[in-house]
Amino acid sequence: MVVRISVKPTLGIAVVALSFSFLLLLFSFYSPSSQTLLSTTSQQLGEKGIWNVRRMFEWRPCKWWLQGHLPALPAKSNGYIRVDCYGGLNQMRRDLCDGVGIARLLNATLVLPKFEVAAYWNESSGFADIFDVDHFIQQMNGFIRVAKELPPEIASKEPFHVDCRKRKGQFDYVESVLPSLMEHQYISITPAMSQRRDRYPQYAKAALCQACYNALRLTRSIEQKAAELLEAMPKPFLSLHLRFEPDMVAYSQCEYAGLSPSSLKAIEEAQGDRKPWTGELAQIWRKRGKCPLTPSETAFILQALKIPTNTNIYLAAGDGLMEIEGLTSVYTNVVTKSSLLSGEDFRSMHGNTKAALDYYVSVNSDSYVATYFGNMDKMVAAMRAFKGLYKTLFLSRRAFAEFTSKDLKGEELSQALWEAHRDDFVMGKGSALPDCFCEFKL
Ligand SMILES: *[C@@H]1O[C@H](CO)[C@@H](O)[C@H](O)[C@H]1NC(C)=O
Ligand SMILES: *[C@@H]1O[C@H](CO)[C@@H](O)[C@H](O)[C@H]1NC(C)=O
Repeated sequence: MVVRISVKPTLGIAVVALSFSFLLLLFSFYSPSSQTLLSTTSQQLGEKGIWNVRRMFEWRPCKWWLQGHLPALPAKSNGYIRVDCYGGLNQMRRDLCDGVGIARLLNATLVLPKFEVAAYWNESSGFADIFDVDHFIQQMNGFIRVAKELPPEIASKEPFHVDCRKRKGQFDYVESVLPSLMEHQYISITPAMSQRRDRYPQYAKAALCQACYNALRLTRSIEQKAAELLEAMPKPFLSLHLRFEPDMVAYSQCEYAGLSPSSLKAIEEAQGDRKPWTGELAQIWRKRGKCPLTPSETAFILQALKIPTNTNIYLAAGDGLMEIEGLTSVYTNVVTKSSLLSGEDFRSMHGNTKAALDYYVSVNSDSYVATYFGNMDKMVAAMRAFKGLYKTLFLSRRAFAEFTSKDLKGEELSQALWEAHRDDFVMGKGSALPDCFCEFKL
């Protein structure tokens, strides 16, 4: 895969303009003529913003994973397992993590995973196109056996496929999958969506954590491009993961007032027979936090969190965001991939590569705000915690819906939102998944 990025020269101008406005800001700060200006300015400098609130808890990688004693791998492997992953980049990654845990649980040898992306991204891009294979194998040493190539007697046949995606609730992989592994000696598996892992032996959990957070590194060429993009961002900056695309809104079955005709048309096209809820059901649905935040709602919450409106924001989002003016009319320093990458480079880039860029920039940004709690958000939050970065926050759709349903507006709404999110931030809520991270009292 070839990825090329060239940074636009306009950036230099933007940086100069930015430093100039900063000077102006400093100047107005010291100007005695206006009290109101003084107070907005100190607020804009973010002195009392959400990131300055003192946290009581944070999530750190558990000791049993990073510093634990690993039992020797069993002398005999029970067979070979390939993890088959589907969906978007971060969903595939989640399934890979699960699959590695399962393979270790079953004392199997891991074969390099299959990343099946054609259906979703309309492209073909396997594991090795996105992640550094040698690094993965090296980092998994001692956690699980990994085979880069299969022995010839097995390589000639397709693995027996075990699809667990449809299974719900508790089931036991040893009971339900081990017999197939023993019989066929080479199976491929797609992990179940929700499977409790608390009964796994610790060495299996450790393999999962190691695979997910310590062994996956982007390929050299993607990482290099992502680093260029990161370099091009004005700093410090906040990475914002917005989810207000037509398919997302259609899927949510929520209705919004005041959308533009073109947004309404795009949503309708994505809807199919999934019609939005109406009346009382719609209200209940919204209050349960099921409705994606619009860019303008997002801008309102960011302001409630006292995140200055001149903050540099990297928009970590796919193409097709709707109603983006709702954000950019308030937060004026919003930068997108397409504004930093030159047109031709951008067009030739695959969906998974773009997702990998967003992931990399978000993991390395000064702060990260998600408007959703999806696979990317969970992965980014956990990786940030792994790196000791804790300016991470998930905006609460539920709190927003609850307060607005009580007819809170303006300053009152703003205050209520501040309190709800401040409490989340203090408690470290959502900033990492409990599987591999342990809560640490500060
Ligand atoms: C895997 O090996 C360990 C010993 O190393 C053993 O205790 C465990 O029962 C084995 N599990 C399976 C599913 O074979
Ligand atoms: C998928 O790719 C094929 C062939 O490259 C193209 O004809 C088709 O329009 C693409 N579909 C979508 C949804 O992009």
